[in-house]
Parts: sequence; C-alpha cells; structure tokens
Amino acid sequence: MVYNFNSGPSVLPQEVFEQASRAILDFNGTGLSILEIGHRTSLFQEVLDEALATARELMHLGNEHEILFLHGGASTQFFQVPMNLLNDHETAAYLDCGTWGTKAIKEAKIFGNVDVVASSKDKNYTYVPKGFAIPKNAKYFHYTTNNTIEGTQMHAIPETDVPLVSDMSSDILSRMMDFSRFDLIYAGAQKNIGAAGVNIVIVKKDILGKVERKLPTMIDYRQHIEAGSVLNTPPVFAIYVCMLTLRWLQQQGGVAAIEKINDQKAALLYDTLDSLPIFRPTVAKEDRSKMNVVFVMDDKALEKEFLATCKENGMVGIEGHRTAGGFRVSMYNAMPLESIRVLTELMKEFATQKA
Ligand SMILES: Cc1ncc(COP(=O)(O)O)c(C=O)c1O
Repeated sequence: MVYNFNSGPSVLPQEVFEQASRAILDFNGTGLSILEIGHRTSLFQEVLDEALATARELMHLGNEHEILFLHGGASTQFFQVPMNLLNDHETAAYLDCGTWGTKAIKEAKIFGNVDVVASSKDKNYTYVPKGFAIPKNAKYFHYTTNNTIEGTQMHAIPETDVPLVSDMSSDILSRMMDFSRFDLIYAGAQKNIGAAGVNIVIVKKDILGKVERKLPTMIDYRQHIEAGSVLNTPPVFAIYVCMLTLRWLQQQGGVAAIEKINDQKAALLYDTLDSLPIFRPTVAKEDRSKMNVVFVMDDKALEKEFLATCKENGMVGIEGHRTAGGFRVSMYNAMPLESIRVLTELMKEFATQKA
C-alpha cells in the first residue's frame, strides 16, 4: 500500500485511474483508444461537454461565466490574465502571499503597473496579510487562494468592488465558496481536478475585450470561448481525466460533501501536530491550509529519521518543497481520511519512541 502525499501532480481517485486506463485500451467500447480519437469528433465533444457541465454544476455558475480548458499550466495564466485584462498604463492590485503569487506579480509587471497591496514576505509567507486596502481604481485584484508551498490559505473572499481574479490551483472545489463572485478563476488541473497538462479557466465574459493591445490568437480568451475550448488540439486525455474526476466529485455529493471530509482530515492532522511537541507547524494558526500542511522538526537529524520511517511505511511525497525544507503533507480531495489516520498514528508512535 502506498500513501501518496504529493503536492501535484497528486493522488486521484482509484476509480479514475481504473477508468482512464481502460479508456486507453478501448474508449467506451469503440475499439479506439482515447489517445487516438480526434478532438473534433462527437466522441470527444461528449467528454468535453460533460466536463464543462459538471464543473459548472459543482461551482453553481450561471451563464455570465464561461468555462475553458486551456494548455500551459497555471503559470501561463500568470501572463495570459494581464494580457487580456490590463492596459500598459493601467494598474492591477496583487496580494503577495506566496511563491506562486510572487511569480504572478512578476509576469503582470510586463504588461502594466502592479500595486502590491500587501505582502507576507517579511515572515517567509507564513501568514496571510490582513486589513489591506484595495485601490478602487485597480483594474482587478489578484490573489492566490491557497499557497501550496508555504501551506497558508485565505479563508474568506476579500470584500471589494474591484473585479476579483484568483489562482485556485491548489484548493479549487475543495470547499464551499461563492465562485460567482470572481471575474476570473484559474487552476492547473493536477491537484483537485485531474491530470497535468490542462488548466481550467472560469471567466466572466463582460470583463473581456477591453484591452488596447493586439492579442495572439492563443492568448485571447474570447477566441477560446468562441471555439468552445477547441481552438487548436486540446490535451484530450488530460481533459478526459478531468471529466472523470469531476464526475467522481459529483458522485461523492459535490463540494459540500468533500469539504466535510477535508475538514476532518485537516482537524486530525493539525490536532496531532499540536499535541506532539516534536513537530512544529510553521504557519499562523488562523491561516493554516486545509490542502497543504507544512511543518518542521527542530532536530534536523530526527527529520531525516522520520522521513525514512515514512518511506518504510509506504508514505511518499511528504518532503517539504525544495525551497522550504521540513515536511509538507498534501491532502487534496482524492486523499481519503484513512491515509491521514495512518500518518497520524505513525507520527504518534515516532514521537513516543523519541520522547
Ligand atoms: C497555487 C499554484 N499556482 C500556480 C502553480 C503553477 O502551476 P503549473 O505548474 O501548472 O504552471 C502551482 C503549482 O503547483 C500552484 O500550486
């Protein structure tokens, strides 16, 4: 038994792996592999339609929002967003609360002015800035809902009249939120939505078409909308895996049901960490992420020993990010509560041995 705590690409439901592997050999009894069907066939259109409809239902979105599956990973959205929304002479407001947000800021600066309204860089991004003001004339406000590397999460949507843009790569569909409040949401699929190689982008149509610059076709969201996400050859297999994963989520009872389990996983792991002085969570309590739990041990030799113990017990992917050290336990939607039970039992055992 392997327990996969990787931060992404990460664990997906077992039934998704099984269905996806069957479809590689024979897609829905057609005698064709999902890898060899054309993206403009009705076979693929059905997959895309179901993926789009299920995502829309899970997020309770109406017709004012368009949903797209695009290439290039979330990192492409770091520049595609400002290219579509921000003129050279205009200003966008950004929150600097983690490694990924910092990268988004760097890219946005190429296409306009950036007002960094607050930053938690002073404490290595171990908290989420609060009480910041968003200038009313900002073209949009961008923030990362969950900081995958540092293990912080913004638990409420900021109150502002400025259009909201959000990188939800590592917590999309993990908790109830009013997705309709956002003008643009993007997320790499490889954590809560499906396989790597595709992004989901949710965009309100009425914020588009207002920039002066000429946009390359593949960068222009409006062209993707017009072409129904098949402007060119899309990542067919990755979208198929997204469809299966979204379908699985719906079968679990949707976002409200998975949030309950995610809350239980987070409570169990953080309570265990708080009860064992050998481990030290690194982020401010009120900003703790329910997706990525980051902690260290003050004794670095013990860290190595614990890591080895985890490996011996079939647990993979708990090393912290190469820039952060320590440990990071990622527990996206497909991670069962049982895996967290097994991990916390091992932590308790290890702490008792070392006491
Ligand atoms: C919050 C967040 N944004 C952006 C990215 C970058 O995603 P990609 O590798 O798909 O470009 C990641 C990757 O883990 C992430 O966690």
